[in-house]
Amino acid sequence: MSAGSRTTTVAGREPTSSTPPTTPLELERELSAAWQRSDEIFALVDERDWLERPIGLRLPLLFYVGHLPAFAWNQLGRGALDAGALDAHLDVLFERGIDPQDEVSASASSAQRWPSVAETLAYRDRARAAVRARAAEVLQRQEDELCANGRVLQLAIEHELMHHETLLYMLAERAPTARRGAAAAKLPEPPAGDGRAAERRRIPAGPAVVGARWSELPFGWDNEFEQRVDALPAFELDSLPVRNRDWADFYRAHPAEENWPNAWLRGPTGWSVKTVAGPIALERAAGWPAQVSGEQAARYCRWRGGRLPTEPELARAAYATPDGGQRRYPWGAEPPSSRHANLGFRHWSPVPVGEAPDGASAFGVEELVGNGWEWTSTAFAPLPGFRAWARTYPGYSADFFDGAHDVVLGASWATDERLVRPSFRNWYRRSYPYPFTSFRVAHDL
Ligand code: AVJ
Ligand code: FE
Repeated sequence: MSAGSRTTTVAGREPTSSTPPTTPLELERELSAAWQRSDEIFALVDERDWLERPIGLRLPLLFYVGHLPAFAWNQLGRGALDAGALDAHLDVLFERGIDPQDEVSASASSAQRWPSVAETLAYRDRARAAVRARAAEVLQRQEDELCANGRVLQLAIEHELMHHETLLYMLAERAPTARRGAAAAKLPEPPAGDGRAAERRRIPAGPAVVGARWSELPFGWDNEFEQRVDALPAFELDSLPVRNRDWADFYRAHPAEENWPNAWLRGPTGWSVKTVAGPIALERAAGWPAQVSGEQAARYCRWRGGRLPTEPELARAAYATPDGGQRRYPWGAEPPSSRHANLGFRHWSPVPVGEAPDGASAFGVEELVGNGWEWTSTAFAPLPGFRAWARTYPGYSADFFDGAHDVVLGASWATDERLVRPSFRNWYRRSYPYPFTSFRVAHDL
């Protein structure tokens, strides 16, 4: 085994992860790249529109301009290094997206609460500079587990990367008539096509690995630890996710409002599908994965005589091998390329399903990473040995262990490669239709 790779507990495994970079230079480069991507995303919206709230339950876009740098400073500067406030008011104002269900936040998110665009941008630049100036100090504190391996820096980087996706699914929710600037007009044409139909694959009985071991993963979020291995009976899983055209068949058979995907629009000229650059005709997106809520996905599966896969089932289908091994990626050890998966902004939209057969897992299941996160039927819950290890962010996961959120796995076109690892667990409220989340059908034998 090469230096820097690790094995886990199941016998005969290939290394499951490559070590994320923890050198100061590499982390700084990643931080700069994440900031650049943030700026690229905000450039899709005219600054005059930053108080828009494309999703009523979320805060205005301007909040996120301040939230990303505030979070990084609050974690690294104020938290890990005990360096005090950068701006006593703005550090707190931008600290967290408050639970939208909460009335206080709804009333508090009115326009007069927010600083001006110029003030917010000045704060962003100060916070970024402060984080950059003190980043190296974190790596010198190896005795503090929050700082060891640059964990708090990695946390700030991954937080920023996750919010790129939040921002983009909010932008897809903007009104069709919204002002879309020059940057949006320059986005590449979304790839059209019908995609390939799913086939059933049999996943034999065997172990399913969820999560990672603290000693073996230099950085993971609290919900990734510790590792659990389940023995699963055999089951069947569709080789590909459900497409918009498949969903259209379902909707025509059961045209109830609850079966209408939020990502679709009805217009005088027909149905269309929301994208970051505005809606496109459904025919052009017919082959894309259907973006629906977890509840809707479960209904479709029942209609098909199947069910959603559980988290361990989807994890096993993706990363296990028939001989009891575990892979780093579904297709093996090779870093992702466009041959394998639509992720990391190779496109700015989904692509028709089935265009990356080289990304198939050891069981011949395709597209388990990229082109859309996938719903599972498993409620988001702590793994055995869970510990909110980030003392600066104890609620990252724990605030959502409420039975209303389900695990989603994989990645979408807007997911950075850094977030693709076997132990990474994402989650959304199962009634939430906005994120780039699709699904596939599982079957009992
Ligand atoms: C892990 C993607 C569900 O977007 O709510 C960002 C990530 N948490 N800031 C979310 C997150 C706090 C989170 N997800
Ligand atoms: Fe956040």
